[in-house]
Amino acid sequence: MTEQIKKVRKAVLPVAGLGTRFLPATKAIPKEMLTVVDKPLIQYAVEECIASGIEHVIFVTGRHKSAIEDHFDFSPELESFLTQRGKSELAKLVHDIGKGVQFSSTRQSEALGLGHAVLCAAELVGDEPFAVLLSDVIMESAIPATRELVEIFEATGSGAIHVERVPRERVNLYGIVDAKPEAGSLWGDKLWRVKNLVEKPSAEEAPSNLGVTGRYVLPPEIFGYLAKTKPGTGGEIQLTDGLCRLAEDNKMLACIYDGKVHDAGDKQGFLQATVDFGLKDPKLGKDFRAYLRGLKL
Ligand code: UTP
Repeated sequence: MTEQIKKVRKAVLPVAGLGTRFLPATKAIPKEMLTVVDKPLIQYAVEECIASGIEHVIFVTGRHKSAIEDHFDFSPELESFLTQRGKSELAKLVHDIGKGVQFSSTRQSEALGLGHAVLCAAELVGDEPFAVLLSDVIMESAIPATRELVEIFEATGSGAIHVERVPRERVNLYGIVDAKPEAGSLWGDKLWRVKNLVEKPSAEEAPSNLGVTGRYVLPPEIFGYLAKTKPGTGGEIQLTDGLCRLAEDNKMLACIYDGKVHDAGDKQGFLQATVDFGLKDPKLGKDFRAYLRGLKL
């Protein structure tokens, strides 16, 4: 008898990193609270979870990260202040942040890598599949990125990640997959069976130019693999090592993402995301475009 594939209800958002690429901005403020136009990065990720049918968001936090939990909590004083001043639309906007989803958090007391951060959520996730979202990456597409991966997992029972084609000279900045097209899938030539993953290879060593984007849906077996993973350089446990073990079990798929990936985790990507979202903003877009056109570059 085939095993019933469980529904994906939970998402883990690791937010315990130190954000060193944005210092000094991130000395006291979490990187995930940096704002693209008028929303912190973490809110884009939570909105993607909600649009993807996730019911329970689990933050893996660290010291100096309480602003993230506060952002998704109610703020009765602020709401009644806004209501009394006749700003009920703003009061509703503040009230509805994170509406429709349950939040939990757990701590990663030392930033020992993404794999370690995910492992910290094992007890809250339990024995069920779950999504992982890196909130410094904003994914923009008609079908929310996480929803697409949830659908792949629920149809196949294999872990699923999004990948994008990256220029050869940039493969050393990504986790790169070694994969072959998955025959006869509902996702056509977008879906690949992963044989192996290599973390930040040189252009010569890279098995492909398919780079991991920062969205995953994984079966709970990953926790057992991560628990057995030996720390690498800097004492870190990489998520990639756990993904490799799933690939060895023939339980890992990669889907070529057909939306836009905004890597806001470094300054260049963050500035580009700000310009892209600024131009699309219904209120600011027109004037912002005129401003950019007027720049003498
Ligand atoms: P990054 O590597 O982009 O974040 O990890 P970082 O380490 O905070 O940033 P830099 O490189 O020092 O500038 C992607 C996500 O994983 C989380 C981060 O908070 C970020 O949202 N993360 C990373 C953890 O939660 N724990 C870790 O040990 C590492």
